[in-house]
Amino acid sequence: MMRDDLPVSAAQADAAWAALLDAACDPYRSAGRWAWHWARGKLGRDPVFRGMIERGDLPTRARVLDIGCGQGLMASLLQATADAAQRGAWPAVWPAAPSATAYTGIELMAKDVARAQAALQGLALQPRFVNADMAQATLPECDVVVILDVLHYVDHAVQETVLERVRSALQPSQGRLLLRVGDADRTRGFAVSQWVDRVVTMARGHRVPPTFGRPLAAWVKVLEGQGYTVRTVPMSQGTPFANVLLVADLEASSR
Ligand SMILES: C[S@@+](CC[C@H](N)C(=O)[O-])C[C@H]1O[C@@H](n2cnc3c(N)ncnc32)[C@H](O)[C@@H]1O
Repeated sequence: MMRDDLPVSAAQADAAWAALLDAACDPYRSAGRWAWHWARGKLGRDPVFRGMIERGDLPTRARVLDIGCGQGLMASLLQATADAAQRGAWPAVWPAAPSATAYTGIELMAKDVARAQAALQGLALQPRFVNADMAQATLPECDVVVILDVLHYVDHAVQETVLERVRSALQPSQGRLLLRVGDADRTRGFAVSQWVDRVVTMARGHRVPPTFGRPLAAWVKVLEGQGYTVRTVPMSQGTPFANVLLVADLEASSR
C-alpha cells in the first residue's frame, strides 16, 4: 500500500521493495520457520541488499559468484528482481533490474547449504550451492563476485589469497567485486559488529572463530594493488556497525 505522505517515486520504490522482499523470502517457507524468519530479518533490515539494487551495483545478465553465501539470500533476491522486471513491475526510479544468467554460492557450513538447496531448488535461475572453504573451492568464471561480511573469518594472508583467486575468476574487462567489510578504524562500530557476529555465530550452533579486520584504507589498498578501481559506499545506515561496501571494478588493462 502506498503512503500518501511520501513523494510518488519514493512510495513506488518502497512498494516495489516490499514486494521484492515478500518474493525473495517466500521460497524459504519450504525450508522451515528458521529459514524464513532469517531471510525476512536479514533482507528486510540489512541496508546492503536494497542499496545494491537502488544504486544499480548488480548488473543485468551477469554470472554471479556469492562467496560465504549462507542460505543463498542473494540468489533468491536475484530471482525476485528478474521476475519483477519480466512482469513490468519494476519502478522507473530504479536502475535496470539485476538478473543473473548463472549463480554459484560457496558456503562453509553444510547446514546453510542444505537450507539453501531445500528452499531454492525450484527457482528458474537454478542456483548452484557448493559446500566448501572459499580458500580452496574452485571458483567459476564470473562477471560479479559478492562477498558480504565473510573475509574477516580468515587471516590476512588467506584474505589476500582469496582476493587473488577472485580476481582470476572475474571477467577481465567489466568484472566487478562487491565486498562488504568492517572498518577497523571506526573502533566502536567495528567492536559492535564483531560482538553481534559472535552472538549470531553461536546462535546458529557454530564454533566462534577468531576474526581478522583491517582499516578501510588497508582494504582499499589491497584491492587497488590487485588492479581494481574502488568506490566506497557507507553501509551502516540505521545500524550501529562500521560496515562499508567496496565496489571494485576491473578494467581490461589491469590484467
Ligand atoms: C556473516 S555471514 C554472511 C552471509 C551472507 N553473505 C549474507 O550477507 O547474508 C558469513 C558467512 O560466511 C561463511 N563463511 C565463513 N568462513 C568461510 C569460508 N572459509 N568459506 C566459505 N564460507 C565461509 C559463514 O559460514 C557464513 O555463512
